[in-house]
Amino acid sequence: MPSLAPPRTRSSDLVRAARREPVSRTPVWFMRQAGRSLPEYRAVREGTTMLEACTRPELVAEITVQPVRRHGVDAAIFFSDIVVPLKAVGLDLDIVAGVGPVVAEPIRSRADLDRLPELTSEHVPYITDAVRLLVAELGDTPLIGFAGAPFTLASYLVEGGPSKNHVRTKALMHGDPDLWHALCDRLAQISGAFLRVQAEAGASVVQLFDSWVGALSRADYSRYVQPHSAKALAAVADLDVPRIHFGVGTGELLPLMGATGAEVVGVDYRVSLTDASDRIGPDHAVQGNLDPALLFAPWDVLRDIVVDIVEQGRRTPGHIFNLGHGVLPDVDPDVLTRVTELVHEVSTR
Ligand code: CP3
Repeated sequence: MPSLAPPRTRSSDLVRAARREPVSRTPVWFMRQAGRSLPEYRAVREGTTMLEACTRPELVAEITVQPVRRHGVDAAIFFSDIVVPLKAVGLDLDIVAGVGPVVAEPIRSRADLDRLPELTSEHVPYITDAVRLLVAELGDTPLIGFAGAPFTLASYLVEGGPSKNHVRTKALMHGDPDLWHALCDRLAQISGAFLRVQAEAGASVVQLFDSWVGALSRADYSRYVQPHSAKALAAVADLDVPRIHFGVGTGELLPLMGATGAEVVGVDYRVSLTDASDRIGPDHAVQGNLDPALLFAPWDVLRDIVVDIVEQGRRTPGHIFNLGHGVLPDVDPDVLTRVTELVHEVSTR
């Protein structure tokens, strides 16, 4: 099995926890740790659009490293966005501040699929360059590469932007299953190739985000989503990189998400970590699951909740501490630093 990630991150607590091996202390990082909660992020991003920033390797590397420097977290998450590979293959889309990804012409017919060619590494040279810069700079700290999962990407493409009820997406899924599967098969190729570019350039772990898949029933997930997420994850199965799979509101779907091939299942804050692990089973590590809203609670309260999650994590096969969803932009970053220190302090073996 080729090991492309730098060998020194192989013994990091993050990689060891993902592999359900003993750790020196519980590894911790935060989804959306790079971003608007940090004044140093707002300073370097000034005057650059989000998508433009994602194509500048030096800027991407600087933003990715900022939370590692500030909080002492156990991993860096590559600064990019789930829609970057879609933009890279030529789709007309933008990220609108305070809204999210917006697609100029939604994808709703078979002819629309022609606007979505397969992704190769030549579409994203700036990703390879940024990952290489980062791996050199991060040393022993592992870099997490990521991609959006087919369902969540499909939702943005079919709806044309963020959606509460995913009405058009579900109508397409059930109304034209052949087109749905063709779309998701293409998206699985794009997601898988995007993960592979990052892993081949030196990312030590990858995470597949299916943020909005909690909108589906188990039956719909199994039939319309799971095979495509499995295909995206299979694209890096021969590389020595543990795979994390995360979604929001996925209490009912957790075992099915584990069965996609991921080594680690991300858990949101609606299910306790031990219940989630019981549902997923002994062959998977878990990641999570502090409610990001609780970062605004008084420290004494937050402290007890963090300690409880660390203790629950010890009763699972492997635990990576994280939030149950992303950092909210107006959080006090000092709280994230304190949570990182606390997780390390109470989990040191
Ligand atoms: O720190 C990190 O986690 C790395 C960077 C990262 C971003 N987006 C940067 C970003 C990651 C991992 C993502 C993934 C992503 N993008 C997801 C999955 C994770 C999740 O939160 O569920 C989703 C659903 C998206 C789509 C998207 N892009 C949304 C919903 C938004 C926010 C829109 C807004 O302004 O509220 C974006 C834009 C985006 N992606 C920002 C950042 C830092 C904000 C834009 C900015 O700073 O100008």
